[in-house]
Amino acid sequence: MNEVIRAIKKRRSYRSYQDKEISKDILEEIIDCARLAPSANNIQPWEFVVVTDKEILKKIASITDYGKFIKNAGACVIVLCKDTKYYLEDGSAATENILLAAESFGIGSCWVAGDKKHYCNKILELVGAPKGYKLVSILSLGYYDKEEKPHGKRALKDVIHWEKF
Ligand SMILES: Cc1cc2nc3c(=O)[nH]c(=O)nc-3n(C[C@H](O)[C@H](O)[C@H](O)COP(=O)(O)O)c2cc1C
Repeated sequence: MNEVIRAIKKRRSYRSYQDKEISKDILEEIIDCARLAPSANNIQPWEFVVVTDKEILKKIASITDYGKFIKNAGACVIVLCKDTKYYLEDGSAATENILLAAESFGIGSCWVAGDKKHYCNKILELVGAPKGYKLVSILSLGYYDKEEKPHGKRALKDVIHWEKF
């Protein structure tokens, strides 16, 4: 199977991780994939804050509603975008690239909600984001112990429509 398709089909959310460091080289490669995502008018409004410090990971975890597992992650990437018209689409495209690049390294990930959450400003403040930036997503990354079982997804035949809905 083609490697991109394999990563897309194999990726799933992982919320528990091995206590194992992710190398800086791998984290850089993952962010390199993020910055290559498409963006409206190629504005590339994004910035990526990579956090590996255990104390900061704990703080991020405690701020989120459903991301307490971030405290045990090897790293966390905060995806921020300048407040442009298409910041959410652009930031989401970059986010998905991160999840897929991580999977291709055998690293599990989970997208934790950022945009629209009541804790947005707390995270922006914690990472020192300049004014005018939006929080798109918080991504936990870590090597997983065992592969998650296949999860429930709607079947292809139920979502595909040829020519007309
Ligand atoms: C916008 C968005 C916000 C999410 N927020 C959270 C979250 O706060 N906590 C969490 O554990 N998972 C979160 N998820 C992950 C979803 O729960 C997960 O993608 C979904 O259950 C499907 O599972 P899969 O990723 O394994 O395919 C979020 C996903 C998206 C796209």
